[in-house]
Amino acid sequence: MSSQTEQIRRNTVPQIAKRKGGEPIVSLTSYHAHTAAIVDRYADFILVGDSLGMVMHGMESTIGVPLDLMIMHGRAVVRGTRRALIVVDMPFGSYEESPNMAFRNAARVMKETGCGAIKIEGGKRMAETIRFLVERGIPVMAHIGLTPQSSHVMGGFKTQGRDEDTWPLHIDDARAVAEAGAFAVVVEGVVEPLAQAITRAIDIPTIGIGASAQCDGQILVLEDMLGMNPWTPKFVKVYGDLGPMIEDSVRRYAEEVKARSFPSEDQVYR
Ligand code: KIV
Repeated sequence: MSSQTEQIRRNTVPQIAKRKGGEPIVSLTSYHAHTAAIVDRYADFILVGDSLGMVMHGMESTIGVPLDLMIMHGRAVVRGTRRALIVVDMPFGSYEESPNMAFRNAARVMKETGCGAIKIEGGKRMAETIRFLVERGIPVMAHIGLTPQSSHVMGGFKTQGRDEDTWPLHIDDARAVAEAGAFAVVVEGVVEPLAQAITRAIDIPTIGIGASAQCDGQILVLEDMLGMNPWTPKFVKVYGDLGPMIEDSVRRYAEEVKARSFPSEDQVYR
């Protein structure tokens, strides 16, 4: 065994599942090997989310993200990390049609990236697929509440559960994915009391995003919490305002190049 292999000790799916009701689970998205290496020191799992279409590639939604792009970023993140469980999102159109199709594409993602699990959106309607994948060796994280891949059906990115009459549907979704064998579930964009009811209703960890602290863990899109996106959802706390720092650095560089004023000894390969 090489020494590099010996140093890789990743969190496992059962370890994350066991954290239900325990120490809160820390997670972030990441799409890039070197930033993933920093996130890896603090996150229990890292999601290579299909939000990369918007965050990295300037798309207007996640709908157009191809499977190959997820695989390419998934590989980079696996390469850059050694501790966190890596979960890769299945993009729109790669799993919904049938359990067979989902298995074929999810197996490709796992083989070609080396990730430890995949994530799919949808509650009750995806339960059969989740069971099919888990029975065949593919760990699944589910995603309910506001599911961005269905934003056209939902009429946009709207907080779910404002009307209490809809709560049973969301709670049924959570129960269905848990019963089908998902090891954790992302709960996105739901009102706080609904997040609490979902977390109480199931025995797998809930990972909240825009869903209050009433979940077993939290996830944020890294570039959102670093202030790097032109638009950031209202619920996101910005921990580091890197956008203005990048702009300032690029501006100073451009000024020095134009003024021929940067020290030339710094710009020579030795
Ligand atoms: O793609 C993504 O970044 C996600 C998170 C919002 C959970 O699915």
